[in-house]
Amino acid sequence: MRVTVLLAAAAVVVTAPRWLPARVVALRRKVFEKVNGDNVITFPNAAVGPDRFQEVYSHPAANGRSRGAGLSDLFWYWLSPGPEVHQEHLEAGPRYDDVARTTRALLSGPADALSAAAARCAARVLDETVTGRVTLVRLRDLMMPVWAEYFYELVFGEPCPREARDLIVGHADDVVSALKCTGLRHPARRARLTRYLARRVAAGDVRHPLPATLTPTEQVHYLQGTFYNTGVVQMSDAMAHLLLALAQHPDVAARLADDPADDRYFTRVLDETMRLYPLFGIAHRITTAEIELDERTTLPEGSVLCFSYPDYHASGHARPDVFDPERWEHTPVRESHHIPFGVAANRPCPAWRLSPLALRAATGEVLRRFTLHSTVAHTRSLPNRGACLLVRVGEPLPPRRLARIGALLRVRDRWEHVWRSVVQLVLGTVMVLHARRLRLAGRYFDPRPTAGCRVDQPPSSQENTA
Ligand code: HEM
Repeated sequence: MRVTVLLAAAAVVVTAPRWLPARVVALRRKVFEKVNGDNVITFPNAAVGPDRFQEVYSHPAANGRSRGAGLSDLFWYWLSPGPEVHQEHLEAGPRYDDVARTTRALLSGPADALSAAAARCAARVLDETVTGRVTLVRLRDLMMPVWAEYFYELVFGEPCPREARDLIVGHADDVVSALKCTGLRHPARRARLTRYLARRVAAGDVRHPLPATLTPTEQVHYLQGTFYNTGVVQMSDAMAHLLLALAQHPDVAARLADDPADDRYFTRVLDETMRLYPLFGIAHRITTAEIELDERTTLPEGSVLCFSYPDYHASGHARPDVFDPERWEHTPVRESHHIPFGVAANRPCPAWRLSPLALRAATGEVLRRFTLHSTVAHTRSLPNRGACLLVRVGEPLPPRRLARIGALLRVRDRWEHVWRSVVQLVLGTVMVLHARRLRLAGRYFDPRPTAGCRVDQPPSSQENTA
């Protein structure tokens, strides 16, 4: 009897990687739904399919960002300090226009210079941090200092000192870990960067005038949120996805490495990476007026519309789950269900021009130095941060050794996944409850205490990571 119980317990433990993470994710979703309510409409859906997705997303009344959605409390919690001046969360109006203009100006420049800066930062960080013949890294962590240096240079127009890089990485890592529910947020860590930036802004060190409609403190928060949170996190995530896809498709990596001048092929690889692993899981809007879809369907004012990028990107493609850059050879992006940087008519990403240039330059620096190998799970939210083996070019490992390391990496990844999914459940629940209690967005827009304020869609850690 005792032996049977022990054997059953052992079987449960040994098979945990197969069943536990999915159960925990389902439970986490339920907890978030219970706490947040489910007052949202997600697109595409049975009534509004992929063919009308962009029409609804681009509708002029789909333009509310934070006001009136309980979901905003969560985002403001994750993006603090200064979520009220984060470009993504500002309501339309003169302050938004001022902020958006400044972001565009800071992100603009000749293509050659933007690429050269990315190559320079990548080369510097790679040569400093990866010195061995074979190195096991987490791609997102590897890339964060690169983009910290890059956006520092873009904002201050000078090379990034080590102190600033560490502060930026500490902040960006804290934000993305909280967003993915793999860690709690640490306001003190974030405040250290705020203090540093405040000193630099006060000294007049930023190379472009900051939005005049913001107070000095808001200007600091604007820089911190847009460049040292969103900029660094999005580029590190994009790069981690791209490099992990290359690690798992060596033929694609070899073609890129052999012909770095072929920018059309790089564009296809990036499009395919962003199609399968869009950085935004869901982007949301709050309707500021009714939207009449047809005679029978009207979306009332105040609805929370959630636009699911993975579902939209999967529609209209043959074998949507397969990573296949070649599909873009004959498929014009403009005619596809493909919006990696959002929709042009409704607050698209201001870095849509800069990002591909900078990613290409940094990828070139990686492939010039290393071949990449990884057997870990590649999912959109990438909670494993892209564990990957970097092997120096010209010093390959024997195939059997590589296979052994790959097998170990796969096993470790599966067990980490079990532990992490439980951590995400617990920390996610704690943060959802804390955010509800603080009610940062709710109190900003409506300072009166609310009984039963309206709350919306669970984040399920698949929300946008910026
Ligand atoms: C590959 C890299 C990137 C991707 C795929 C990406 C994707 C996106 C998408 C899809 C949106 C629109 C979301 C929506 O409709 O609500 C967006 C918005 C935004 N992105 Fe990016 N992004 C990237 C890099 C960056 C960088 C480097 C920055 C800043 C330095 C940035 C700053 C922003 C801001 C401020 C918004 C809000 C725009 C607004 O509401 O006016 N992004 N991004």
